[in-house]
Amino acid sequence: MKQVLIDSYGTPWDVARCAEVPDVGDPGPDEVVFDVLAFPINPADMWFCRGSYRLKPPLPATPGAECVGRVTSVGSAVKHVAKGDLVINLQRENWTQRRRVKGDDAIPLPPGIDLRQAAMVRINPPTAQLMLSDFVDLAPCDWVIQNVANSAVGRLLIVLARQRGLRTVNVVRRAGLADELKTLGADIVIADGDDLAARVAVVTGDAAIRLGVEAIGGAATGRIVDCVATDGTVVHYGSMSGDDPKVTRSNFIYRGVKLTGFMLGRGLAKRTPEKIRAIYADLAGQVMAGKLSAPVDTVYPIDRIKEALAHADKGGRNGKILVAPNGAI
Ligand SMILES: NC(=O)c1ccc[n+]([C@@H]2O[C@H](COP(=O)([O-])OP(=O)(O)OC[C@H]3O[C@@H](n4cnc5c(N)ncnc54)[C@H](OP(=O)(O)O)[C@@H]3O)[C@@H](O)[C@H]2O)c1
Repeated sequence: MKQVLIDSYGTPWDVARCAEVPDVGDPGPDEVVFDVLAFPINPADMWFCRGSYRLKPPLPATPGAECVGRVTSVGSAVKHVAKGDLVINLQRENWTQRRRVKGDDAIPLPPGIDLRQAAMVRINPPTAQLMLSDFVDLAPCDWVIQNVANSAVGRLLIVLARQRGLRTVNVVRRAGLADELKTLGADIVIADGDDLAARVAVVTGDAAIRLGVEAIGGAATGRIVDCVATDGTVVHYGSMSGDDPKVTRSNFIYRGVKLTGFMLGRGLAKRTPEKIRAIYADLAGQVMAGKLSAPVDTVYPIDRIKEALAHADKGGRNGKILVAPNGAI
């Protein structure tokens, strides 16, 4: 079977290759085997290839934090999925044609779900959802501010916030995206910049913003911190700039703003397997109903992984780059 391997850490499209490797074999009693139908290339996967992600396993290694697959066989002790079911996988190493995993790591999805969307259900939708629920007790009409609002997470957060009656300020680096994000439910779309807090105060009528979520790092974190109200909370969940957050200390001392972080794995680890399945059942149901989606730019076959990675690294894409390892989807 085919599998993506990286032999050294470095520029993703230089270090990744499509290799021929032995098949995964049959499932043990508590295991599931599935064909990988599609996986997205996420920012964290790029950092994994570069060796700058929190996980840096011995090489050669296979990237891939998420995928959607179709079950081909199940062990005798596994009761919640069956052959033919679509599943997502809570474990990594998914840039391959076939996976063998513990039954509890295979989360069933509804039959008929759009495969491209299903490939992206595992990480970004629960990230957006849990950031809205786990930090600040928000009530309808409360404001939330986020940067990278055009990212997959950002777009999902706009939709999920609107469903709860929350209002969103969406900070982007391309002002031309405003109409598109407003169609999703964004209340305000605003370009990032030095005077962000002053401009946000004007367009929101000095609203008290109690939650900020941000994924750029460096001075951009500070700009979001400046925008939230006294005693507000900012959740740092990614670093598109590669820089650590830079925040003016007066925000902490004089205004009591809290800066914290989110990682999906930690968020899910606080929940039981049943609760985790319920979260994904809800999100998958919303995908089925057409309420949640993330745009897809291009789908590549696994043999063209180098091309796919180089494309994923380019700014200005119209959505995610996906790979379909077992034929077109
Ligand atoms: N902590 C967690 O558990 C967790 C889970 C999921 C995702 N994340 C993080 O969430 C972030 C978004 O992920 P995603 O999959 O939604 O991303 P995505 O769809 O690939 O979008 C990336 C976004 O980042 C923007 N961007 C790229 N480089 C930038 C820079 N140097 N400065 C400012 N903006 C920049 C892009 O702007 P344009 O649209 O203008 O190109 C785009 O909106 C990533 O940092 C990812 O690691 C974290």
